[in-house]
Amino acid sequence: MKLQFEDAYREVYEIVKPKYRLFTAGPVACFPEVLEIMKVQMFSHRAAEYKEIHVDTLKRLSDFLEAEKGEIIIFPSSGTGFMEAAVRNTVPRGGKVLVTTIGAFGDRFAEVVRTNGREPVLLRKEPGYAVKPEELDDALKKNPDVVAVTVTYNETSTGVLNPLPELAKVVKEHDKLLFVDAVSAMGGADIKFDKWGIDVVFGSSQKAFGVPPGLAVAAISERVFEIAEKMPERGWYFDLPLYRKFNEKKKGTPSTPPMPQIFGLNVVLRIVERMGGKYEWLEMYKKRSEMIRKGVKEIGLSILAEPGYESPTITAVVVPEGIKGVDVYNAMRERGFELAKGYGSVAEKTFRIGNMGYITFEDIEDMLTNLREVIEKLKG
Ligand SMILES: Cc1ncc(COP(=O)(O)O)c(C=O)c1O
Repeated sequence: MKLQFEDAYREVYEIVKPKYRLFTAGPVACFPEVLEIMKVQMFSHRAAEYKEIHVDTLKRLSDFLEAEKGEIIIFPSSGTGFMEAAVRNTVPRGGKVLVTTIGAFGDRFAEVVRTNGREPVLLRKEPGYAVKPEELDDALKKNPDVVAVTVTYNETSTGVLNPLPELAKVVKEHDKLLFVDAVSAMGGADIKFDKWGIDVVFGSSQKAFGVPPGLAVAAISERVFEIAEKMPERGWYFDLPLYRKFNEKKKGTPSTPPMPQIFGLNVVLRIVERMGGKYEWLEMYKKRSEMIRKGVKEIGLSILAEPGYESPTITAVVVPEGIKGVDVYNAMRERGFELAKGYGSVAEKTFRIGNMGYITFEDIEDMLTNLREVIEKLKG
């Protein structure tokens, strides 16, 4: 397309043009094929072409999440929209939710429960630690009146991956609903929706799928719809049964969806297929994160996550005495690498290295070489 007002474009481009190699917590660097498809001219979201992509994207997501029994729902929101949706559609006002929290995003789920007029009951762990099945079992025995349990699959602030299959088993034994925040896990860690008995699992486009922000995706169980259909005042924008109806009847969403992001996600899911399927793709994430953890340890730094529960998508690194996490972040930025600052209660004593989206193994090597030099300099 010819640019008639190129200077208008240039002015904005000068501000936002890429300057760093990204190891962020999200948004992350996107795959070039994704950015390319997102440039196409727009058209109606009720047109046949959109419907074709909508249905195909849901099918690909269903395969990726192993959610044959679930309904795939996509929201024109970021991932947090599904926290609101899960709570409003299934928990009556004043009802209790057991919120397991191992960091800032577990705390957010508790806030969403509370600000929607429901009551969060907390099972909290110290930063760096995962929830263990016996702890969850104990909390559920003490609180038999909760309607649902929330689990942050991958806590982005601490770089900890919760043992989701084991936790899901406990939730099912107590016959509660299970809501899984997989915002920084989906696309980077395995999810077996049907097998693990999840009720709501949601992710965001701007994380491990390597797509720009603005799209949230989820798999929802039949049980959720049964409850939701009878739930009064569940709202409109995040009304799950309404979304299911639109999936079926209109092959679309009730309101206008972020079409470019959906096209981008569809491209990524095709890339996954071409790379050999979901497990090959997840292996790439495993290798990236292992390479980062090994490099960080070789530099003499320690990792916040307890051994055995390290995240495949983000590493929170503990800084040595006398150095602040933000000093490392700033020094790396000066060298052309954007890492992520520490977040939540561990903000000062950590910095984070994300490995989501479009990153090569060479990028990781270069980042680690620079990190070693930065740490040596800061130590003085
Ligand atoms: C684990 C986790 N949950 C929830 C969120 C919020 O997601 P969003 O910004 O897409 O609403 C984030 C964002 O970083 C996250 O990492």
